[in-house]
Amino acid sequence: MKLFLDTANIQEIRDGARMGVISGVTTNPSLAASQGIGDAEGYKTAVREISDIVDGPISVEVTSLDAAGMVAEGRDIATWIPNPWVKIPSTLEGFEAISTLASEGIKINQTLCFSASQALLGAQAGSTAVSPFIGRLDDIGQEGMDLVSEIVDIYKIHDIKTQVLAASIRHSLHCLMAAKAGAHIATVPYKVLLQMVQHPLTDAGMAKFMEDWNKAGNN
Ligand code: G3P
Repeated sequence: MKLFLDTANIQEIRDGARMGVISGVTTNPSLAASQGIGDAEGYKTAVREISDIVDGPISVEVTSLDAAGMVAEGRDIATWIPNPWVKIPSTLEGFEAISTLASEGIKINQTLCFSASQALLGAQAGSTAVSPFIGRLDDIGQEGMDLVSEIVDIYKIHDIKTQVLAASIRHSLHCLMAAKAGAHIATVPYKVLLQMVQHPLTDAGMAKFMEDWNKAGNN
């Protein structure tokens, strides 16, 4: 399973990229807004900076609500960087835009996916990846990971090539469970990436190694 960083914070992306475990980045209007970005020019500048740091797919979300607007934005976004994945929502207008953009060879990250039906439609429309939002389903008392498993199973049965990109990941267990469920990609916030590194026994073990080493060195 590949790991993407789910952030528009340039410093987090720089720090995460240094680990050598990040294969892409996903952004969305909320993540962009959290960095003070509120228009296409600012988004383009940030996305280009991100693309200079991470040599992999960068997901950039449209902000139009109608198919024509999404298509126009998607065609523009496709010119911004070498490896754009245009983020299109799982809506009626969105599927129309996905079909059009996919037919033009533009890669699509189908976002805000909350059902296997939406994932099935996206695969038919030509989504490169579909993003089931685990955390937001958990938030309303549903088992978000079940959706990941359901989509993975359906895609396997029908040999569907659309990738399952586990999103709305809130902690390291989500990431681990997404791997067990067969997701192709998990996009994680930087804080989750750090959680994946941390273990108290590793810290304690290092402390003991250094304590013993230093004692011997002082003998
Ligand atoms: O990639 C989607 C992700 O950013 C949404 O996460 O925590 O806002 O549900 P969250």
